[in-house]
Amino acid sequence: MSATPVAAAPESGNPLVEGLERLPVRPTSLVVFGATGDLAHRKLLPALYNLAHDGALPERFELIAVARRDQGHDDFRAVARESIERFSRRVPDPATLEGLLNDMRYVQGTFDDDRVYTELERTLGEFDEQAGYQLNRTFYLSTSPEFFPVIAGKLGAAGLNRAATAEVRIVIEKPFGYDLASARQLNCEVLGVFDESQVFRIDHYLGKETVQNLMALRFANALFEPVWNRNYIDQIQITAAEDIGIGGRAGYYERAGALRDLVQNHMLQLLALLAMEPPTAFEANRLRDEKLKVLEAIVPPTTDHVSAMTVRAQYGPGVVGGVAVPGYREEPGVASNSRTETFAALRLEVSNWRWAGVPFYLRTGKQLARKVTEIAVILKPVPHIALQSSGSVGIQANQIVLTVQPDEGVSVSLGAKIPGARMRIRPVNMEYRYGTAFMSESPEAYERLILDAMRGDATLFTRNDEIEALWGIIDPILSAWQHDTTSTIPQYAAGSSGPSEANGLLDGGRKWRRL
Ligand code: BG6
Repeated sequence: MSATPVAAAPESGNPLVEGLERLPVRPTSLVVFGATGDLAHRKLLPALYNLAHDGALPERFELIAVARRDQGHDDFRAVARESIERFSRRVPDPATLEGLLNDMRYVQGTFDDDRVYTELERTLGEFDEQAGYQLNRTFYLSTSPEFFPVIAGKLGAAGLNRAATAEVRIVIEKPFGYDLASARQLNCEVLGVFDESQVFRIDHYLGKETVQNLMALRFANALFEPVWNRNYIDQIQITAAEDIGIGGRAGYYERAGALRDLVQNHMLQLLALLAMEPPTAFEANRLRDEKLKVLEAIVPPTTDHVSAMTVRAQYGPGVVGGVAVPGYREEPGVASNSRTETFAALRLEVSNWRWAGVPFYLRTGKQLARKVTEIAVILKPVPHIALQSSGSVGIQANQIVLTVQPDEGVSVSLGAKIPGARMRIRPVNMEYRYGTAFMSESPEAYERLILDAMRGDATLFTRNDEIEALWGIIDPILSAWQHDTTSTIPQYAAGSSGPSEANGLLDGGRKWRRL
């Protein structure tokens, strides 16, 4: 074991990215477990490059990659270079890229092998010695979920969960648990080794600019708050439609399904941000307290009500973007009698003073007509249309629509007079789009989240009680679906807007927004 210098690290003198300066990013060693996996390849390494490009990494930043693949430091650097060149949102600048790659280290081994942790400790110590003080340590678990408790336990056993004069943090990717019981168990195992303040559970939707903009829209404008309640809002629709299938992830998806994959985390997070009370500060625990209250106010359906409040379905063969695609059950690695849902729709209610009686409709699916993630807040119709006159083209209730992706922006629909001698009304949109309003490209969610984790800011990460509340909503549905082994799973054609059965969830003449 190398001697650990105990001098405190200097504050980073680096200029930080504008708007991200609330907590400094202190010198850090980032250890990525599963560094040769798909997420590291497509997201984490390119995000690190873009942080380096923005001058947002601390002056001393060391990356240690841990994975099973048998290769040396240089082989890993070559793989990292390729990931960055292929997936970075910017064409890499050679000097910045070399600077990032030069010091990367690779530790080979299986995650349950004690030698990995001995080697990690040695390498971390070496970096500390070079610096003359202890660097902060962030362990990023980008592995298959069965390794989360294994790695946390081994880090603890090696004493790597604490450092004498530096902060130690652990970032855990999704899925955090498979159901409520396993999420509790995982919380228990992780919190047996790390304090909650050291744990950063990722939901990458929270790192998306447009998701944070939901808070800006609500809390930086006086316009919306007076109508943001049951008195004026008729319904909320949250859609996360994808125009892709399961790719090569059949093994994962067969066990997950749409409810676990998107609803339990990303969509319920959107719901919580939309429905929460204004936090007194944009600070980790205050914000998460407010989200938790919303989640706790959602009454999960009882087994008897699951079929009335949810719809599940699978995509059949069809045409997406002009290309013929197979149905889910014909995908490689998927059982021909699979009952895993690729589409899920739910009707939920938030039982509190602000929202009682307002239905929250959620839908998500793979292989749908187009990719769109949006939140539509649909207001009640005006009480009396004195202006009605023949020739009006669909007077509709006002809608506030936040498009999370693509074509990020916000639009508010209004009834407007059609030019001419008669009083005819038609809906028009008042809108802004991110691309044109700010003339800049938004950073990737992972850039923001990696930086926040290294700074110790957990505002955009999920707390342990929040994770359990999220699973608590989903658990009864999962269990009802699992026990129902006989009913037919509705099919929808790939490239369509989903199964017609989803229309049955909406009552009172309501309709899903067009996909
Ligand atoms: C992931 C899911 O969490 O989110 C994927 O596992 C899904 O199945 C992805 O495709 C969607 O993320 P985004 O950022 O493309 O909307």
